Amino acid sequence: MSLTLCARCRPLAGLTRRHAVRSITQQQRRNESTIGTYASVEEGAQVAKKPRGKVIFSGIQPTGVPHLGNYLGALRLWKKLQDDAKPEDKLIFSVVDLHAITMPQDAKVLRLRRREMLASLLAIGLDPEKGPTIFYQSSVPQHSELMWILSCTASMGYLGRMTQWKSKLQMNNKAGDLEEAAMTNLKLGLFSYPVLQAADILVHRATHVPVGDDQRQHLEFARECATNFNHTFKNIFVPPEIMTTSFPRVMSLTQPESKMSKSSPNQRSRIEITSTAEEIRSRIMVALTDPHNAVTYDPESRPGVSNLLELLSQCTPAPARLPPRELAAQFAAAGASLRDLKEATATAVCRELDGVRERYEEFLDRKGGKWLDEIEAEGAEKAARSAEETMVRVRAAVGLGPAM
Ligand code: TRP
Repeated sequence: MSLTLCARCRPLAGLTRRHAVRSITQQQRRNESTIGTYASVEEGAQVAKKPRGKVIFSGIQPTGVPHLGNYLGALRLWKKLQDDAKPEDKLIFSVVDLHAITMPQDAKVLRLRRREMLASLLAIGLDPEKGPTIFYQSSVPQHSELMWILSCTASMGYLGRMTQWKSKLQMNNKAGDLEEAAMTNLKLGLFSYPVLQAADILVHRATHVPVGDDQRQHLEFARECATNFNHTFKNIFVPPEIMTTSFPRVMSLTQPESKMSKSSPNQRSRIEITSTAEEIRSRIMVALTDPHNAVTYDPESRPGVSNLLELLSQCTPAPARLPPRELAAQFAAAGASLRDLKEATATAVCRELDGVRERYEEFLDRKGGKWLDEIEAEGAEKAARSAEETMVRVRAAVGLGPAM
């Protein structure tokens, strides 16, 4: 590609080489339209680019087929972000397999879980042709490369205060955690998990990261990583913004005081996005409620009934959607029974997940299984292009690559 400069840059005297090279990437960006926002702090106000659009990044662990809690909490939002995206926005979603191995994994199972998660994302309607880049984290080595570089300016003290590794090791959250026995069990990868997450986000210069509230700490840490790097080397990263949503808490159908979870041994406690209509119906019809046969919304004292109301509300299409409390009032006014509530909920959930199972199975089998690999490879290539653009600058700033 020739060294053409964009019209806005041309009048600037004393053009540095760094800037000339940047202009090439700007040109590429126009040609490939793979990049959204690039707020360049480095070049100062004189040539700072106006934000072009959002760069939205999020990741999900390859835990296999998502359940209704994962779907209503995160994946449905991803689909909405896709549907609402402006042409200048860029969406990147990754199946974060490198994060998965911070806990013990069987290789065969992990290979399968990655495919299942990818097929699930596509089955709920994420469509790479409509814009989002979808790929396995490990397919784009720039993520790990940036993680290493960030880990050289990340603080152990800060990581030590994060709560996820403690809860995964089932430790209490008190000082003295890092004593010897604990240290032996604590693997370095689990401890530094947030650095990899920061790299995921920063390597694509994401401006917005949609995550649940449980990830807030990690997002703040990612912002800290950006700042530390910028101070130590050069202003390259823009701290990403957290995009939280009011995630509904979807509770277990058999133990409604705890969250719906993949790890519960009781299959009937959850609904998977690929559950059949019969499974959905039968699990909801026998969902644990309480002996009081009338509908009221009270998550504290009636967690089972309230969970059904929450599901019904969430699975009602937007214009007609009512908050669970109002739904409860409607049911009560009609003198409805818990059975009526269960039937309405089952119907709404079946409707919401209609077609997901069929698409999921078809995608897994398409071209004898090869189609998914092809889709992933295309996503990985796109993601690698986006990540490499950052890494060229990072390597230059650190002294690991040619100066820009
Ligand atoms: N840690 C996130 C989770 O467990 C997954 C994740 C990895 C992620 N990298 C990310 C989320 C980057 C947002 C951005 O849910």
